[in-house]
Amino acid sequence: MTTLPIVEKPTFVEEDPLDLMDEIDALRKEKNAAILAHFYTDGEIQDIADFTGDSLKLARDAASITNPIIVFSGVHFMGESAKILSPEKTVLVPDLLAGCSLADSCNPHDLKAMQDQLRAEGRDIVTVAYINTTAATKSLCDWIVTSGNAREIIDRVPKDKEILFVPDQHLGRYLQEVTGRKMILWPGSCMVHEMFSKQDLIRAKKNNPESIIMAHPECPQNILEICDFIGGTEKMRQYVVSLKEPQRFLVATEVAMIHALKKIAPQHEYIPVPGIFADTGETCACNRCPHMARNTLQKIRDCLRDGKPEIEWKPYFADAKDVLERSLLK
Ligand code: 13P
Ligand code: SF4
Repeated sequence: MTTLPIVEKPTFVEEDPLDLMDEIDALRKEKNAAILAHFYTDGEIQDIADFTGDSLKLARDAASITNPIIVFSGVHFMGESAKILSPEKTVLVPDLLAGCSLADSCNPHDLKAMQDQLRAEGRDIVTVAYINTTAATKSLCDWIVTSGNAREIIDRVPKDKEILFVPDQHLGRYLQEVTGRKMILWPGSCMVHEMFSKQDLIRAKKNNPESIIMAHPECPQNILEICDFIGGTEKMRQYVVSLKEPQRFLVATEVAMIHALKKIAPQHEYIPVPGIFADTGETCACNRCPHMARNTLQKIRDCLRDGKPEIEWKPYFADAKDVLERSLLK
């Protein structure tokens, strides 16, 4: 009889968050690094970051700051965009596996095939991509939008062109409504916003009749149509800060956003809308993005200390650079 080798379970040692924060602080000073964190990362990460923001602000910060090292606490496409806009800087990411269901849904080969097919049919298309795409996909696009600048960019597309919008069908449908432009929509969606259910939201509203429902435009149409306010993460912050009287909000977006809302407008109450399994009716923890959740204080310390993992420059970044600069910086 062969005996199987005994594999020892890796032991995960939880480090004290306060010690980690001190280490991070010392390392960032020593290396002149800046930590950028998206509003969907854990509150403790947002608190130690040098810059927090939505996708648009963080991309602009990455381009304008002078620190030679950036630690991008977010997801892969965000780190990639930072590198593309600032090739001379070292862009470190706490976890290279922090991806995005939207970016995964639109690979460059499929996009190229769709563009070729539409052009072969004689359609005069302009491809507008949400920033939640890989650099390889961006390099095939004419414009890049974020939740913060989408309307303005779509207004720049000549009226006689057809718009192919990738990869978020829900954001695309919402943009069709607010801009009045008909679009060909790619069938992608965000795994977090896709999970909010209308019944659940109606139930939450019944329990809190005086509440204001706010949702990210990545939510499906049936959620958006019962909302009082629709906006990306930065627009949500601007909205809550504009209301001086205490309000109760039902928040249909990634749950870490509540930390950023509480910080800027602590006079209000924020209730996260849970995701729900449509078949069983049970609520789940799916209002937390598993990719954003890969960012931890420990990994931020490690990547600052070790100088890796790093986003390496790839030849196709040059094409993505043109379209990103034109769309986000001009
Ligand atoms: P914004 O912060 O730009 O609204 O983006 C939300 C998002 O889903 C990021 O992945
Ligand atoms: Fe992607 Fe959705 Fe996670 Fe944002 S919240 S990174 S869109 S999967």
